[in-house]
Amino acid sequence: MWTSDSRRTRGHSPRVLNVGTAAVPSVLIASVGPVGPFVDCHSHVIPSGDDGAGLVQEGLALCRSAAEHGTVVLFGTPHVWPYLTLSPEREIEIREVYERMRPHAGLELRLGFELTPTRALLKEDPHRYVLEGTDRVLMEVPFSGPADILFALAEHVEAAGLKPVIAHPERTEAVLEDPFVAEELAARGWTLQVNATSLLGRHGPEPEELGWSFLERSIASLVASDGHRATRPAQLDEAYALAQQRLGDRASQLFDGTALGLDVARDVDVRGAVGSARRSV
Ligand SMILES: [Fe+2]
Repeated sequence: MWTSDSRRTRGHSPRVLNVGTAAVPSVLIASVGPVGPFVDCHSHVIPSGDDGAGLVQEGLALCRSAAEHGTVVLFGTPHVWPYLTLSPEREIEIREVYERMRPHAGLELRLGFELTPTRALLKEDPHRYVLEGTDRVLMEVPFSGPADILFALAEHVEAAGLKPVIAHPERTEAVLEDPFVAEELAARGWTLQVNATSLLGRHGPEPEELGWSFLERSIASLVASDGHRATRPAQLDEAYALAQQRLGDRASQLFDGTALGLDVARDVDVRGAVGSARRSV
């Protein structure tokens, strides 16, 4: 488990990890909220030394809050940053924390990762980073700078027989400066994912406008929370309500896992038998 000493060796860990002493609450039976069921492929609820949840208890509270707001499958996707890579040691620790959280999450918690494109990742087998139970790999458009390495990484993922999911293009410098970049990504057949918080205007008017534009023009086909903490929770219901108003019946498939090849009715026991859900795509 992480300790303060091991954190210092990583060079980046803005939040406190204390998973070794955090008490794990008793099993919470999942319940589908007033809306949903939603599949959320992007969140930072698993303590991993990044800027998401720092404690198991904090991560579990985010999971329960997601369940209360209609999410039945939540992917915890720790960041894989250029300066916080998935070292073997970090991967073991993340998988241990994940296994510890999973029975108590109140929804079906799955593990994935969010890749920030780097040249080093082009030399790795991307199967390591797959969103559990799918053939998808989540990667972000870098917040600043060009998207060249993103294109290369997505091609690398495709060459391995997997499918890229491109996170929050509407929030990034490359796409805000030239929205055609998003159209190019979509034209490759890659799944673009807009953040729920962008649709709610939480990142300002430009990402909000772009996010809606991508959904309305079917450039993006997926909405996720990118939830990090209590003030930025892993919730989709508010954005879903807005999407229903603006997009009508088309809204549900943006939130229900369809774009990931998942069928909640077939693959997930939404009645709440946590841990019993089947994991096949
Ligand atoms: Fe993220």
